[in-house]
Amino acid sequence: MIDSKTISSWERFYRGNFINSLSGFKPVSLIGTKNNNGQSNLAIFSNIVHLGADPPLVGFVNRPLEAGGHTLANIETSRFYTINHIHSSFAEKAHQTSAKYDGGVSEFSKVGLHEQWVENFEAPFVAESKIKFGLSLQQIIPIPLNNTYFVIGKIEMVFVDETYLLPDGFIDMVKAESLCSSGIDAYHTVSYLDRFAYPKPNLPVKKIDNK
Ligand SMILES: Cc1cc2nc3c(=O)[nH]c(=O)nc-3n(C[C@H](O)[C@H](O)[C@H](O)COP(=O)(O)O)c2cc1C
Repeated sequence: MIDSKTISSWERFYRGNFINSLSGFKPVSLIGTKNNNGQSNLAIFSNIVHLGADPPLVGFVNRPLEAGGHTLANIETSRFYTINHIHSSFAEKAHQTSAKYDGGVSEFSKVGLHEQWVENFEAPFVAESKIKFGLSLQQIIPIPLNNTYFVIGKIEMVFVDETYLLPDGFIDMVKAESLCSSGIDAYHTVSYLDRFAYPKPNLPVKKIDNK
């Protein structure tokens, strides 16, 4: 057993790696925004969570503003942003977006990813991403406990190729080769295990045919 006193005595980076890994595998995506001057911004985020399907809400945690803050500032002003899945083919470019670039430069051009714009939607998508969605800001909840922010958006549009869409609405992210992450710097390809039907008390678990 490792107690909290021991954990807090650890060197900062060791403790960071340990605690960041502990909550398990996470989604990892690129968030696209634009600032007041029309300058695009792209940054990688893994603290992304599904909040509900009706209305369709997704949240993410933005770190304290000293860590950067362009994404959050842009979302506050433009009210729109995009979340774009990452695939193995551009994992390194996606990781590089976490570098502290100036607000005046676009990570798209710095890392070599391409902007995709939709008419009347105030945020850029990542052209290379096979699964991506656009959101409108609903709420920003400051968390004074550690100076972070929980940002809630409503899904306004989705781009997903039909190849990855199953008849029952499930999205096959293994086929799309979307990555997931762990810790703060590890990326994983994923293999499929099973889908299970809605469970009922006292009945055996039923598998779903995922085709
Ligand atoms: C794999 C990975 C996941 C990250 N996840 C988050 C996250 O969930 N929230 C966050 O605020 N920063 C996260 N970051 C750090 C941001 O990408 C980084 O602070 C970035 O510079 C923010 O850019 P911005 O100032 O353009 O918003 C992550 C970095 C990496 C490498």
